[in-house]
Amino acid sequence: MENNRLKTVVEDLEQVLLEFMRKHLVTHEEYRLVTDLLIHTVKAGEESLLYDVFFEAQATDLGNVGRKGSLEAIEGPFYLKGAPELTAPYVMPQRPEEAGDLLFFNGRVTNAEGQPIAGVELDVWHADALGLYSNIHSNIPEWNLRGRFHTDGNGNFEVRTVLPPPYEIPKDGPTGTVLSALGRHFFRPAHLHVKVSHRDYRTLTSQLYFRGGKYLDSDVASAVRDGLVADLIKHESGSEMSKRNLSASYFELTYDFELTYDFASIPKELSA
Ligand code: BEZ
Ligand code: FE
Repeated sequence: MENNRLKTVVEDLEQVLLEFMRKHLVTHEEYRLVTDLLIHTVKAGEESLLYDVFFEAQATDLGNVGRKGSLEAIEGPFYLKGAPELTAPYVMPQRPEEAGDLLFFNGRVTNAEGQPIAGVELDVWHADALGLYSNIHSNIPEWNLRGRFHTDGNGNFEVRTVLPPPYEIPKDGPTGTVLSALGRHFFRPAHLHVKVSHRDYRTLTSQLYFRGGKYLDSDVASAVRDGLVADLIKHESGSEMSKRNLSASYFELTYDFELTYDFASIPKELSA
C-alpha cells in the first residue's frame, strides 16, 4: 500500500473505531476480550477465516466497481499456491474412489474484444464430498482436488472433477464462537474456486456457485453474486453418457471468463 494511502486509511480506521468505542461505551474488559479473540484466531490456525467471513466480499465488491471483465470473487482462506500441474485431458487430483458425482467444468477464456486467449492458467481448488479441503483438513491426500491446467489454442478448457457439496466452515474455533454468539449458521453454498491467470492479463480470482443450490441466499460469507451463479446441467441419457465413454450420469458446469489487460505489463511508452 502506498505510504500516503496507508496513513490516510489507518488514521481513518482509528477514528472510526474510537467513535465506535465511545458510541457503545466499550468497557476495558470487552476491549481485552476482542484483542484476545483476534490473537486466538491466529493461534487456532484460522488465519484469515474470521476476516474472510465478515469482510472479504466487501473488498471484492469494491474491486468490481467500474471494472470490466468477469466478476472478481472472494478467495477465502483455503487457497494454496503450487497446486500440481495437470496434463490433458485434465482430471483433478483425487483418490481412486473419490466420493461425489462426476462433474465436468468447462468454458472459454477471452479478452474484452471477445478474442480467445490460449495458454491461460486455471488454478482450481474445491472441497471434497464431505466439504473438506486437502492440505487444510486432516486425513486427505496432499493436493487432493487442487490442480492447475491451461486453455487450449481456442481459449477453451475442461477439467473433470467431482461435485462439491455446501459445506460448514470450521466452527470449533474463535470464528465459530463469534458466529454462534450472533445466532448465525456456518454454511457456504457449494462452489468451485478458480484463479485465472496469464502474463498479459490481470489475474482473476473467481468462485462459481450452482444455480438452485442450498444456502445461496444465506451464505455465511455473504459472497454470492448473480454473475457468479451458473447452471449445473445433469446429463443422464445413454447417448450423452456414451459421448463421453461413461456408464454413469454426470454434471456439467460451463462458465466463460473475460480477462482484462494488466496495464503494468504494457511498456509505459505504449500505455501513455
Ligand atoms: C471458502 O470459500 O472456502 C471460504 C470463504 C470464506 C470463509 C470460509 C471459507
Ligand atoms: Fe471454498
